[in-house]
Amino acid sequence: SGMPKIQPVRGTRDFYPEDMAFRQWLYARIREASERFGYQEYDGPYLERLELYAAKSGEELVKEQSYVFPDRSGTMIALRPELTPSLARMVAQRGNALLLPLRWWSFGPFWRYERTQKGRSREFFQWNIDLIGVDNPSADAEVPAVAATLFQSVGLTPDLIRIKVNNRRLAERKLAEIGIGESLRSSVFHLIDRMDKLDEDAWQAYALEIGLDENQRDRLMILLEDRQAWQASDELVAFFEAAEAFGVGDYFEYDPTIIRGLDYYTGTVYEARDVRGLHRAILGGGRYDDLVAAMGGGKIPATGFAMGDVVFRLLLGDYELLPRLRPNPADVFVATFDENTKAEAMRLSTELRAEGFQVEWYPEPVRLSRQFKYADRQGIPFAVIAGPDEVRDGQVSLKDLRSGEQETLPREHLSPRLRKLIRGG
Ligand code: HAM
Repeated sequence: SGMPKIQPVRGTRDFYPEDMAFRQWLYARIREASERFGYQEYDGPYLERLELYAAKSGEELVKEQSYVFPDRSGTMIALRPELTPSLARMVAQRGNALLLPLRWWSFGPFWRYERTQKGRSREFFQWNIDLIGVDNPSADAEVPAVAATLFQSVGLTPDLIRIKVNNRRLAERKLAEIGIGESLRSSVFHLIDRMDKLDEDAWQAYALEIGLDENQRDRLMILLEDRQAWQASDELVAFFEAAEAFGVGDYFEYDPTIIRGLDYYTGTVYEARDVRGLHRAILGGGRYDDLVAAMGGGKIPATGFAMGDVVFRLLLGDYELLPRLRPNPADVFVATFDENTKAEAMRLSTELRAEGFQVEWYPEPVRLSRQFKYADRQGIPFAVIAGPDEVRDGQVSLKDLRSGEQETLPREHLSPRLRKLIRGG
C-alpha cells in the first residue's frame, strides 16, 4: 500500500467499475428522457479552435477556465469547455440543408480549469440538449421539461429540486427602469450571476467597482427580491403555461437572480437548484438567438441547457436515490472443481456463452466455498459446477447463490433451466 508514484491530474476522475456503472446508468436515463421527446443524439469534437469560444462564451470561460495549447502548427486549441459553440458551428455549417426544428442531445466529457470543490471538477460529463429553429416560449419550456421528466423518473420530486427561471429581456427592462442602460448591462449581468458565489459585503463592493452608484445598487437589490415581476413578461407567462401543459409545472419557479454567466444568452434563462441549497447549479441553459449567426450561419433561434454528472450524482446520494447497480454483468458463474475437470469447466462456460448467457469462469481450483463466496460478492446469482461424478454421468449441478439451494440435472437441461430462472428474476 501507499501513494502511487505519479499523482493523477487534479480534478480529473478515475472511473472504477462502480463509477462506470453509474455513468452508463445515467447515460441510459438521459437517452430515455431525450428520446421520449424525439431528440436525436449527436456529438461534436473534443478539440476546437480557441477562437470558437471567444466569439460569445465570455471572458471567464475563455481566459480563465479553458485548457489551451498550441498544436504542432501553432494553432491555439482548446479542450472543449462546453458544447454550445460547437453545436452552433455545426448548424451554421449545414445551414439550409438541415430540417428545422432540430432537436439534438449529447452526453460526453468536458474540461474546465476551475477551483475544485464539491460538485465541481476539472473533467466532467454534460448532458446537452437543444431545440434549434424555433423562437417561442413553448420551445423554451420543452427543453427543461425533458429535464423535469428525467428528474421525475429517478425520484427527484419538485420538493427536492426546482428549475429557476428568468428572462434577460425582462431583466433588461427592469434595469433600464433604474437607470442602468446598455453600457453597464453586461457587467451588471455578471454581478447578478455572482450573487450566490460572493458573500454579501464582497458583492456590494463589486457592485460599486463595476460602476453602479449606491442608489442604483440598493434599487438593484430590491429588484432582485421582486418575485412577481414575471407577470410583466409575456414570454415568461407563456413559458409557465407551457410547463404546466407538459405536466411538469411544479418544477418551475420565477427567480430574478438567475441571469447565467455565459454571454450568448438572449431571452429566457434557467438553472436547476436543490431546494436545500447545498449544491451549485445542477443544470443551466436558456435561449441564444444570435450564436448561429455569430458562427457565420443564418439568423436561427435556439434554446437548450446542459446538466453535469457530478452534482447530479451527489444530489441522488443526498436523497438516497442512487440506483443499486452491479458492475459485474455475469448471470452465471462456472466453478472449477479440480485440475482434471478444469478444461471441462472452460468448455461448459464457452457453450453457455454461445447460448446467450453472460458467464464468468473461475480460473483456479480453489475450495468451492471460496469460489461461491467470490461469486456471491460479485452479485452473480447462479453457479454451475461440473465435478468428476457429474462429468462422468453427463450431468451438472446448479446452485442458486442467493438461497443456497442446489440441484443436479442433465447437462442438456441446464440452459432452459437457467433461462427460466434468469427471466423469472
Ligand atoms: P454551464 O452553466 O456552464 O452551461 O454548465 C452547465 C452545467 O454543467 C452546470 O450546471 C453543471 O452541472 C455542469 N458543470 C459546469 N462546470 C462544471 C464543473 N467544473 N464540474 C462539474 N460540472 C460542471 C453550459 O455549459 C451551456 N453550454 C449550457 C447550454 C446548452 N446552454 C444552451 N445550451
